This record gives sequence, C-alpha cells and structure tokens, in this order.
Amino acid sequence: MTEVAAPRPAAPPERDGEARAGSPPAVDDVRADAAAPDALEEGRAAAAQEVLVLDYGGQYSQLIARRVRECGVFSELLPHDVALEEIERRAPRGLILSGGPASVYADEAPRLRTELLDLDIPVLGICYGMQAMARELGGRVELAEAGEFGRSELHVREPGRLLNGLPAEQSCWMSHRDSVFEPPPGFTALASSPSSPVAALENPDRRLYGIQFHPEVVHTPYGTAILETFLGDICGCEESWTAAQVVEDQIRRVREQVGEGKVICGLSGGVDSSVAALLVHRAVGDQLTCVFVDHGLLRRNEAEQVVASFRDHFHVPLVVADAQDRFLDRLAGVVDPEHKRKVIGEEFIRVFEEEAGRLGDPRYLVQGTLYSDVIESGGSTGASTIKSHHNVGGLPEDLELELVEPLRALFKDEVRAVGAELGLPERMVWRQPFPGPGLAIRIVGGEVNRERLAVLRDADFVLQEEIRAAGLYRELWQSFCVLPAELRTVGVQGDERTYGHVIAIRAVTSDDAMTADWARLPHELLERIAARMVNELPAVNRVVLDITSKPPGTIEWE
Ligand code: XMP
Repeated sequence: MTEVAAPRPAAPPERDGEARAGSPPAVDDVRADAAAPDALEEGRAAAAQEVLVLDYGGQYSQLIARRVRECGVFSELLPHDVALEEIERRAPRGLILSGGPASVYADEAPRLRTELLDLDIPVLGICYGMQAMARELGGRVELAEAGEFGRSELHVREPGRLLNGLPAEQSCWMSHRDSVFEPPPGFTALASSPSSPVAALENPDRRLYGIQFHPEVVHTPYGTAILETFLGDICGCEESWTAAQVVEDQIRRVREQVGEGKVICGLSGGVDSSVAALLVHRAVGDQLTCVFVDHGLLRRNEAEQVVASFRDHFHVPLVVADAQDRFLDRLAGVVDPEHKRKVIGEEFIRVFEEEAGRLGDPRYLVQGTLYSDVIESGGSTGASTIKSHHNVGGLPEDLELELVEPLRALFKDEVRAVGAELGLPERMVWRQPFPGPGLAIRIVGGEVNRERLAVLRDADFVLQEEIRAAGLYRELWQSFCVLPAELRTVGVQGDERTYGHVIAIRAVTSDDAMTADWARLPHELLERIAARMVNELPAVNRVVLDITSKPPGTIEWE
C-alpha cells in the first residue's frame, strides 16, 4: 500500500475553498471582476524588472510564471496575442513562450508573431513555443513517428549558453507530438532526446532560445537551473521579487489608496483573508476593523484562535459577531445542500451589513483576491470602484465599497510567504481550505442542529489532532469528518448493544481542488483515529473511510 503522496509542490494555484452556487459566506471567496488600483502594475514597478510569459494554451503556463517568481523575478502571464505596444510599454527583460495543445500545423493553431522575435528582448520558447519559433524562422518541424509524453532522457551535445554547466545526460519531462528536426538557419542544436532530434536550440546573437521539454515541472530536475540561466545570464535579471519586498510595496500602495478612509475586512480565519487583513493593518493601523462572523459552524477552538491571534497578538481592531443562534434558527429543518448554502449566505450578509453599519459604513472593503483569480477572470487589471453585486456571492447589492486587494498580484505560495513574513502563526499560514458554510455541509441527510454539530466537532478534533501528530497535515489538501445525520448503526461496547452515529473520514490530496485523489493514510493511523473516536465520543460507534476520488465524487459530501 502506498502512503500519502509526497508533499505537493509548494505552490498549488488553489484558494481557500471554491464557492458553490448559492451561498458562500466566506469573504475569502468573494470575487470581483474589476480591481482597485493596479496591484500588478505596482508589482512590476517595484520589481523594476519582469519577464512576461505569453500563453499559447499550455496546461503549465501559470506554473512557468510561478517558477520565474520563485527565481526572484516578477512575472506575469499574458495572452499570446497581447498587443505588441503593450509589451513594448512594459519593456520586460525577457519573454517566455509557453507550451500549448495545438500542432503548429493545425489551422486553429495560435500563430507566433515574428515581430515578437525582433524586439531585441531575449525569448525562450518552451515546447509549442520552441516549435513555433523554429517554424517561423525556417527550421524543420514535423510530426514525429511517436509522441513523447512523460519522463525522457536528454542528451546534451553542445551546452551553448542556455545549458551551460549542466550534465551531458539528464532526465526531463516531455509532452508533445510535433518535433523539431532541423533548427532554423543561424541556430545551434544543443540537445536531443529519443523522439526529439532537436530538444534544445539557441541563437545567442539574436538572443533566441528554445527547449522542447518543460523546465517548470518538478520532473525536470535541471529545469530551475535552466530558467535561472535564462533569467540571470541571458536576461540580466537580479533577484528582486521577495516576500519582504511585497510587504513593503503593498503597504505603500494601500496607504495611497485609502488615505484617511475607514476600511472593513471580513475575516474567516483562512490564510487569504488573514494575510490581507494583516497587510492592510500594517499599512493603515486602526483605520481597519476586521469582522469575524461566528456562525456556529466552525471547528473546535477556531473562533478563539482567530481572536487570540488578531486581537490579542496583532492588536488588530476586531469585532466578533456571535451569530450562532441566528444561524441555527434559520437552519432548522433545512436538509437540501443548496438551500443550506443559500440560508447561510443570506444570514452572513445580514450580519456583515449590520456590523458595517455599526462601524459607520466604511468606504473600503479588503478582499483576498489572488493572482490565479485574476487570471481566471480574464486578468482585468484596471482601476475602478465596483458595486458589490459584481462580486460572486457574499455581499449585498446596495453596499458600495471600494475594494482593497493587496494579494491581487500573488500566487498562493507567495501569500503564505508574505503571511510568514508578517509573523502569522504557522498554523494559520498552512491552514487547509475550509468551506464558508463550514460544518453545515458536513452534516448530511438531515438538519443541522447543536447536538449533531457537537458530535461532528468532537470527531473532527480527534482527526485533526492525529493527522497533525502524524506530520501529514500539510501534505493533505483537506482532511475532515462527515456525519450522516439520520444514520445509526448497531455496535457492541463493553457487552452492551449500542445504536450510534457513524463518522466518515475524508482526506484528499489535490493541487487545486478541481480534481482530487483520496489519500492513502497509513492503516495504523486510521486504526488510532477510529479507536479514539469510538472510545472518546459516546455518540459514535462506527468509523468509515471515504475512498472516492474527484471525479466522480466531490471533495465535500454536499
Ligand atoms: P468540492 O466539494 O466541490 O469542493 O469538490 C471543492 C473545494 O471547494 C470547497 N467548497 C466550498 N467553499 N463555500 C466555500 O467557501 C462552499 O459552499 C463550498 N463548497 C465546497 C471545498 O471545501 C473544497 O476545498
């Protein structure tokens, strides 16, 4: 049996829980389709140098930008057909042409504009990007007899500038059908692989480079070294994109945006809203008030931890709205999952609105929008004031607030790094995603009430404690318990027949919550968890494990 997968790459493009239709109350999840002053523009200005990734539709395009940033160079992903003037205006230090699913010969294949190669900016083509470059400049690109997918062996014949200092034999990750058979005139073929006669090429005079394999995935061991060579030696970039730099820039930016204005932030305890709140507090101090809505659907000690951390430790003005009774009253008799979400969402808005009113209706709302959200929503970076009904879920239509989005330029791993830089406790920096409707969508097939919440909360506490003790918390995307509300099963404990609750354990690995695999938790750990649950929780007499992946299941049961 395999154990839990190796730690996932440091930076999956996830967020703290995806909203489902209906009612996501987590302010972390509120989305905007327009932005406050341009954080990305600021990132660029502060970093003073950037490398643009042009997206030809490859599945790893976002990852390329992330890897470039990990090398300390600010990077943004732009559509492959972005206006030439825009590129010239930005004056990037380098361009990277991503991979893409098309064959360079397909009618609908995105064309590489040769003007891009004449800007006197170094260009690195990756996979499709290299093929398109080779083809446009007169090389020979053809469909190889066999495609090359997965791990492959790279043989370096001539390191040139791009592969300088790397071993002659190395493995790399490939994913292509077309191959370059001959480089364009003026180019040197640097390396080959079994199905790629030309797996790397360069023309240093024109500052054009290409590799057939993917340097951005972990299965290419020298991928980062190649990117570093391109960024440092070839583009002349220095490492200037760091968490400390981001903090400094964002503090300045937030100050400029809000001036003396009052700011409100819905705190959920998740990493995005926590980091956003801390940044804004550093910038404008007590002009910010955080609102934490305790809807009674949280895990054990969660509300206390948020209060201890924000109010007591960071001294951030914090209003805790104790709305447990209100939420439970409204949830009485509600069984349907989407109905539940709707009820919770509506009540959340009401509570938030009341608190905002009490605070004198602040003008600004902090929101933890991430760069992945910006990319997904089409990457609008312009400045504007939005009406909150443009947001997806969450806030009422007549609440006019200007958004403050200090994380808008950041990937999730950068948010965690900024959180650590700001002194956020490790526990909060690495918190697993938790859905806005909380434990309510983990009590299934019956209404949510106090007794059921108590059982689920106790079971969840045991699970979290054991998962953490086993050192597996960070490796799992999520781990939680589910309580089938109406289900009872027979057991025998101490010679007595019992008729008790069933607890289901759900633990998954995932990169982005779009797909997930059930985690192969060690048997001994599962045994310990089950034993503790039935021994310590009188209402529980059976524990089961969910071994469904997504698809076909979803991560949550509702
Ligand atoms: P599913 O269950 O669809 O979940 O595989 C994907 C991710 O989204 C989270 N999730 C939610 N987050 N409000 C949220 O804020 C919701 O209504 C909601 N439903 C699911 C889930 O925990 C997982 O991370």
